[in-house]
Amino acid sequence: MTKSSAKTIKVITIDGPSGSGKSTAACKLAQRLGFAHLDTGAMYRAVTFQALQEGLNLRDSAKLVDLAKGIDLDLVPTAHGTQVTICGQDVTELIRTVEVTENAHFLASQRDVRDEMVKRQRKLATKLTPLVAEGRDQGTVVFPHAQVKFFLDADPATRAQRRYQQLQRSGQAVTYDQVLAGIQTRDARDSSRPTAPLEVPAGAIVIDTTNMSVSQMVDELVRHIRRIRSILDQG
Ligand code: C5P
Repeated sequence: MTKSSAKTIKVITIDGPSGSGKSTAACKLAQRLGFAHLDTGAMYRAVTFQALQEGLNLRDSAKLVDLAKGIDLDLVPTAHGTQVTICGQDVTELIRTVEVTENAHFLASQRDVRDEMVKRQRKLATKLTPLVAEGRDQGTVVFPHAQVKFFLDADPATRAQRRYQQLQRSGQAVTYDQVLAGIQTRDARDSSRPTAPLEVPAGAIVIDTTNMSVSQMVDELVRHIRRIRSILDQG
């Protein structure tokens, strides 16, 4: 697909659980289409990281809303993914620690904090479109009118194996069993929270990535986008 042929599509959403391949696929897809990539998980992680740094009570919604409103957070696209900075300091690696991963649900489950994050994401989108927006609520809440919505999933053992390999590569000391248990806990939390639970968005294309390589995932996404684009062109 050429960049110009993808112009009629402004927003592509990719939602799914941890380890489903959505971050890697979103990054590569955005590169292939010449779209921006919005990694909203990185935003929840960055605010969680900063809250931990400041020793905030993660159950104090008002404090977290203030932080989410005021934080000087920047997402800079690079060839390898999104570089995340807070007040100009590179926190890309620091937001991927087990501590941040295990505490992100405090922010993610509080409605007022989510409302603030959604506002930030929509504001960013006005500058970034066309974009691939990736997270847990992109097709359901943030961009319900996106022309293309995907939901990626994979079996828990495969997702845990992918996360385990990522953590090994970044030098974090965890066992596969710990990663699997963490994924199961986060799946349950993300899917059962009352505000913006992780669920398949209406009209989303569901892809099981269990047996797919990264390039197979991206090819599959592009195949669907081509098909949708030709439908949009006819309309
Ligand atoms: O995708 P990632 O694992 O980086 O996201 C970190 C956490 O942020 C998730 O466990 C999830 O609870 C939360 N999140 C969310 N909504 C999003 C993106 C992430 O609740 N759109």
